[in-house]
Amino acid sequence: MKKIKIDPSPNAYRLLNPGAVTLISVGDGKADNLFSVTWNMPLRREPSIVAMLSCKGNFSYTFIVTTGVFAINISSTKIAGAVLGCGRTTGSKVPDKFARFKLTRQVSEKIKAPLVEEAVGNLECRVSQIIDLGASSLILANILSATVAEEHYKDGGWCYDNGLELLHHLGGNSFAASTHEIVVKIPEE
Ligand SMILES: Cc1cc2nc3c(=O)[nH]c(=O)nc-3n(C[C@H](O)[C@H](O)[C@H](O)COP(=O)(O)O)c2cc1C
Repeated sequence: MKKIKIDPSPNAYRLLNPGAVTLISVGDGKADNLFSVTWNMPLRREPSIVAMLSCKGNFSYTFIVTTGVFAINISSTKIAGAVLGCGRTTGSKVPDKFARFKLTRQVSEKIKAPLVEEAVGNLECRVSQIIDLGASSLILANILSATVAEEHYKDGGWCYDNGLELLHHLGGNSFAASTHEIVVKIPEE
């Protein structure tokens, strides 16, 4: 997939705006892993800050805490099976989820974790704050670098003209696809 680099701010946050399910990639240069995350959001445009929730029991959690970095890989329907698989298996038992779910490592620019080539957008992030919520943590991070599929990006945001289908998690094994843009006007009085 042909990707272009975009500035981390002010518009990279828009890749997360539609609320697609993401694959979080982690790694320390020797080992890496992937897990699925529905609970993610942008928090600030400049500097760009994002948030995601991770259970502390996730195998990936230790990577995030020790390396202080991770990547958010944004999913389309083309990798729906891999998203479900990465969220239903643990790196403690499946040492290479990239191979298991036929995903390709894309070299990252600023972090040790690899990116997911098949994802339509990739945000390299550095952890800025970890908010303890008991069994899970809310992880705040700055976007350091961002890439996006060239054919699906226009005027600082997603473009649905070329068949983009972002993947949204409804719960369990159910997902939805967003397939087109609608431009809304405020109703007249
Ligand atoms: C579609 C989907 C979305 C998920 N969203 C989250 C999430 O937002 N936060 C989280 O901690 N776990 C989430 N999970 C569960 C983790 O991805 C799952 O526990 C995974 O096995 C952890 O992998 P790891 O142990 O290799 O790190 C989700 C699972 C699926 C299938």
